[in-house]
Amino acid sequence: MSHEEFPTEDPAVVTCGLPYANGDLHIGHLRTYVGGDIYSRALKRLGQETAFVSGSDMHGTPVAVNAAEEGVTPEEFALRHHEQYEETFPKFDVEFDNYGHTHDATNVETTQEIVRALEEAGYVYEKEIPVAYDPDADQWLPDRFVEGTCPYCGEHARGDECDEGCGRHLEPGEIEDPVSTITGNPAEYREREHKFFAVSDLQEYLGEFIDRLEGTANAQNQPREWIEGELQDWCITRDMDWGVDYPGEDDLVLYVWVDAPIEYISSTKQYTERVGSDVFDWAEAWGADGGDGGEIVHIIGRDIIQHHTVFWPAMLRAAGYAEPRAVMASGFITLEGKGFSTSRDRAVWADEYLDEGFRPDLLRYYLATNGGFQQDVDFSWGRFRERVNNELVGTVGNFVYRSLLFAAREFGGAPDVDVSEDVRERIETAIEEFEAGVNGYSVREVGESAVRLAQFGNEYIQRNEPWKLEDDDPEKAQVIRDCVQIAKAVAVLFEPVTPEAAENIWNDLNEDGDVHAVGVEAALDVSAQDFGEPTELFEKIPEERVDELNEKLEARVAEATADAESEGEAGADEGDDDGEAAAADLEPIADERISFEDFQELDVRVGEIVAAEGVEGADKLAKLTVDIGVEERQIVAGIKQLHDLDSLPGTKIIVVANLEKAELFGVESNGMLLAAGEQADLLTTHGDAVPGTKVQ
Ligand code: MF3
Ligand code: ZN
Repeated sequence: MSHEEFPTEDPAVVTCGLPYANGDLHIGHLRTYVGGDIYSRALKRLGQETAFVSGSDMHGTPVAVNAAEEGVTPEEFALRHHEQYEETFPKFDVEFDNYGHTHDATNVETTQEIVRALEEAGYVYEKEIPVAYDPDADQWLPDRFVEGTCPYCGEHARGDECDEGCGRHLEPGEIEDPVSTITGNPAEYREREHKFFAVSDLQEYLGEFIDRLEGTANAQNQPREWIEGELQDWCITRDMDWGVDYPGEDDLVLYVWVDAPIEYISSTKQYTERVGSDVFDWAEAWGADGGDGGEIVHIIGRDIIQHHTVFWPAMLRAAGYAEPRAVMASGFITLEGKGFSTSRDRAVWADEYLDEGFRPDLLRYYLATNGGFQQDVDFSWGRFRERVNNELVGTVGNFVYRSLLFAAREFGGAPDVDVSEDVRERIETAIEEFEAGVNGYSVREVGESAVRLAQFGNEYIQRNEPWKLEDDDPEKAQVIRDCVQIAKAVAVLFEPVTPEAAENIWNDLNEDGDVHAVGVEAALDVSAQDFGEPTELFEKIPEERVDELNEKLEARVAEATADAESEGEAGADEGDDDGEAAAADLEPIADERISFEDFQELDVRVGEIVAAEGVEGADKLAKLTVDIGVEERQIVAGIKQLHDLDSLPGTKIIVVANLEKAELFGVESNGMLLAAGEQADLLTTHGDAVPGTKVQ
């Protein structure tokens, strides 16, 4: 079954994965929220009725563990962070229609209702299972209160998740060699009765669901393996005080992954309560009225694909709600090539970014367009500067400013002639690209539609050189009129990515109405006639700023690392950080020098990955098809567990093209890709070098 294109007649709900209320936000976190905000604004521009919702994830052991460390109650701890998030998102123009939290009355009530519905429909059963217990602390050890070894891959893992190894969700009792994180002592397993949700009863349904699911390819492909394999039932209760009480059981709370996604519904409900069901009807959107529901689009990080494509749709189905239409899962984000590490202060913090005086538009543009949504993205101040200076200042800002300035000076606004046919058609093409971006779940395409249009505008004005034309030459008025229309279209189409710049263009054009509320067709509406001189949209970032910001970052990391080491915490990094080599671990530079001729013997080329699949029977090897311009090569590389293979096609890499052929696991490898470090950080290019370009 394929879905109708956007906009549809039904209400849409765009959600962002709930942030755990347990730390400061950095720009890595913002990727999903900015992506969600852009997507929901773009849907609204298409005329789709849309609610954009999220909330803070207040429960669960990550919050309980951190609150205990700080010596405050989980509620106080979580609320403090919730309030901080609530303030921070709008500063980045991430404007939720409703932002709630999982501990509020709406969510507690909705969660308990849904659990009762699951029970009534016969999807909940009790089972005795071994649960980790700390005899010294006299306490059960749910989820992150216990650590140990992953039974699937042997890596060190948290109680509920193999965060350093295979990434699997772990059920209570599964982790081997359990150790209590409270006392550091080995934990015991004790038998205890818990409630289970019979996900396996929904196997057939989930198999069909995944065929219908839209969104990014990683979210459609990754779950197949789980759904087509043997589905595990989920233990949905925990021995804790902090959480939503299991209805009718005093000593059990619900597993955080039950009440967290339900906040998507609760938050939509709160929106309806505020605006009225004639404006937005949550029950219709979620199919709670017995209908087939609206267009639910979940925007998440790729580490929680399983929760959103298996567990959550199973819960919705069993409780009688509508299913999600799409899941967009973003790739990871690194900072200057290495993982973010909050414990080492290796991050660009959300507040810090703003304190440095940067506008939200710049970061939004970078995060949205520096790679496809599902690709891994690296943030570097150097590249940030390049993209701001070249694209935002050089292309968009420059075009809009010179056009409007010329128009204001020569004509006091837009000359009174019709837009030429060619330009009209070019704007229509940009609108189509924008629509294709939305329907293809690509925030990058949405953003690029406007930038490409501005680029066309620059070429157009350059080609026609209106400054050379006589004042009474009708051609002059025509060119300026066209440019003003293009500028207006850029404002409309760039609004989702750079809402502030869009508003500025709008004001400069003396347009009535709200650029945040118009539809894409406004890009073609005749623009107002009179306006004065425009303001500059974006400012260039000087090179010294980059050096300064990099130095600050390095100094901070060094300080935090030294602190951690003096406290004996070296290596005690967070699970979501990529393993980074501390400076002391770096290999010394080779003593021997080679000649330039020796280097020239290497034939190193830019390649583009066309296809990627695992080598059967080999844990680590992936077989890649790589376009190196002159031909396609098959290359085997040890990156299977380190990269999401589905998201690799389209990635540019660097290949040693004249390496001897080799055979690995019976598969021929014809060339070698270059990658850095144990995480196989893939080398790439950052400009337009096409496959086959020589690296020298
Ligand atoms: N707090 C969870 C995390 O950061 C995400 C919850 S998303 C939701 O991994 F689906 F539960 F809402
Ligand atoms: Zn594992």
